[in-house]
Amino acid sequence: MKNFINISDLSSEELRSIIEEAKSRKLKRKNLNKSSPDEDRPFEGKSMAMIFEKPSTRTRMSFDIAVKQLGGSSITLSPEGIHYGKGDETLKDTAKVLTEYVDIVMLRTAQHKNLEEFGKHLDIPIINGLSDQSHPCQIMSDILTFEEIKGPIKNKVISWLGDGNNNMSNSLIEAAGKFDFELKIGCPNKYMPNKNIMKWAKKNNVKLTVTKKPEEAVKNSDCIMTDKWVSMNDKVNKKIKKKNLKPYQVNKKLMAKAKPDAIFMHCLPVGRGEEVTDEIIDGKQSVVWIQALNRVHAQKSIINWCFI
Ligand code: CP
Ligand code: NVA
Repeated sequence: MKNFINISDLSSEELRSIIEEAKSRKLKRKNLNKSSPDEDRPFEGKSMAMIFEKPSTRTRMSFDIAVKQLGGSSITLSPEGIHYGKGDETLKDTAKVLTEYVDIVMLRTAQHKNLEEFGKHLDIPIINGLSDQSHPCQIMSDILTFEEIKGPIKNKVISWLGDGNNNMSNSLIEAAGKFDFELKIGCPNKYMPNKNIMKWAKKNNVKLTVTKKPEEAVKNSDCIMTDKWVSMNDKVNKKIKKKNLKPYQVNKKLMAKAKPDAIFMHCLPVGRGEEVTDEIIDGKQSVVWIQALNRVHAQKSIINWCFI
């Protein structure tokens, strides 16, 4: 039994096995209905509790479908609807109770330490469905999407534009180290990756460039990625942050500086006209809807990995 909290917690071999299982399960069920179970139903008779401390469309839907495809069931809990969120029951006691009812927990939390704390008191696995520090399920799905379209990610060039210090960019840096691709981050000084993740990157020989120049970040790129300029619960002056990040908008001019066959990725939800223009996100280089679908497939193998 294992927890899936950060990409950096797993070995490259374990992460690779998750991606390969996702590819093969996806292929095997290509003629099945969206929620029909896989033939082997590895999660039959089992269930997942999902707790969302922040809003979600994709994570909520894709985990529910993932569990159904594995032959199991899920229940969604919102903090306001349970005692934990109201402060009437401790996180520890909630964890003890959930251990009795379900087989695995998925938590989306405003504070990363809640994941660690929950994990400590649960006797069942916990999966990080996004925290302020990382979004490992999204990045694993994105590796799957990249490889489906462009082949092995090893030694490819991935560019990240905009906020260089958020949950997505942190998990992407960890993935660059584990999957051995080159990562070029284009962001202003104020939104550079934080010291801890830079230290991790250095220690793990990540091929990482951080530059203030957006055109330098996208040069030779196989894939340009970006994210909302203001993340959920980001307590910043939104107007100032958006103004500072304006030069990092992914538009036609910037996209043209990447390789001609480069793809565009965004985890969604998107700030249209802010971090990306409509013509890029709706254009032929964009793979954002496949990314959303692949959350289901990557998460199925993440759930299975937790039980190995
Ligand atoms: N990409 C992602 O995690 O989307 P949601 O916030 O809708 O779950
Ligand atoms: N960085 C974004 C990701 C949303 C899926 C946020 O935390 O809001």
